[in-house]
Amino acid sequence: MTDTLTIRRPDDWHVHFRDGAMMAAVVPHTARQMARAIVMPNLVPPVTTAAMAAAYRDRIMAAVPDGVDFTPLMTAYLTDNTDPADLAAGHADGVLTAVKYYPAGATTNSDSGVTDIAKVQGVLEKMAEIGMPLLLHGEVTDAEIDIFDREAVFIERILGPLVTRIPDLKIVLEHITTANAAEFVSAAGPNIAATVTAHHLVINRTDIFKGGIRPHLYCLPIAKREVHRQALRRAVASGDPKFFLGTDTAPHARHTKEAACGCAGIFTAATAIELYAEVFDELDALDKLEAFASLNGPAFYDLPVNEATVTLERADWTAPEAVEAAAGEKVVAFKGGETLSWRLAG
Ligand code: DOR
Ligand code: ZN
Repeated sequence: MTDTLTIRRPDDWHVHFRDGAMMAAVVPHTARQMARAIVMPNLVPPVTTAAMAAAYRDRIMAAVPDGVDFTPLMTAYLTDNTDPADLAAGHADGVLTAVKYYPAGATTNSDSGVTDIAKVQGVLEKMAEIGMPLLLHGEVTDAEIDIFDREAVFIERILGPLVTRIPDLKIVLEHITTANAAEFVSAAGPNIAATVTAHHLVINRTDIFKGGIRPHLYCLPIAKREVHRQALRRAVASGDPKFFLGTDTAPHARHTKEAACGCAGIFTAATAIELYAEVFDELDALDKLEAFASLNGPAFYDLPVNEATVTLERADWTAPEAVEAAAGEKVVAFKGGETLSWRLAG
């Protein structure tokens, strides 16, 4: 039985850092584990230009603890009016790594998102030409589509036709939650990949209602049936390089989740790599963890792998229940207060 595992330092290909005091509180949790992270642009107002992304990157860097090696990789928020020349210039300058597509109204702070994919055809063609990845929040927003079907319908109606229309575009289908997504991505060409969160590998939709409604397990895309969780677990354990680590860690102050209309998002940064290790261990696939966490993402993004390593050890520990975001403001940590079986050494 493997009791310690040394892997190249992982990267997180999908995080929400927010801004201000919340950002200052959560950045150290990601930087503790991850060498780099793709930072989501859904601030208020959203990060829509290269200049805004550069300024946001500076604010994030100021929140990284001294002596910690961490690089934020920035994204721009796609709108109906995005200027392709600004994206291309930001990409050439190294300020922008990728572009985030939120269907308007799909999730937290997505009101300025794309109202119709036809409106951004020119921008997407430019991105394909320069090799800039498109990161998809893959859910349709139509009120008549059941919330549990929104990812599968997005694949049918939006993603499939997009891949046919612009076959060279690099696409990451983010935080996949369904067997449909896992199958689509593994069957697609090498320019189509997916991130998988720790929480979607751990919970199914029944967990959200276990003994009562559990707002801290509510996120978008919402967790699906157990068969889908099993499909995601098979996908990550398969060693297929199209799947890589993206936590979608999404902090919200406790009172905004424990509310009559609670926010979507699960804060996983405090326990992420440990939970992935636990899942891979359960799947008898610890030998696949390094590729998922540290190799497949850089390969997709054409970035070097990290030279530093981290060591995980099999040891029980209890993560803090919550982290302090500002005076009196707490963010509840996923699996905080529970016993975890893998720990980051050092
Ligand atoms: O659950 C989610 N929370 N899903 C998203 O897509 C956005 C995120 C957030 O920003 O809180
Ligand atoms: Zn997200």
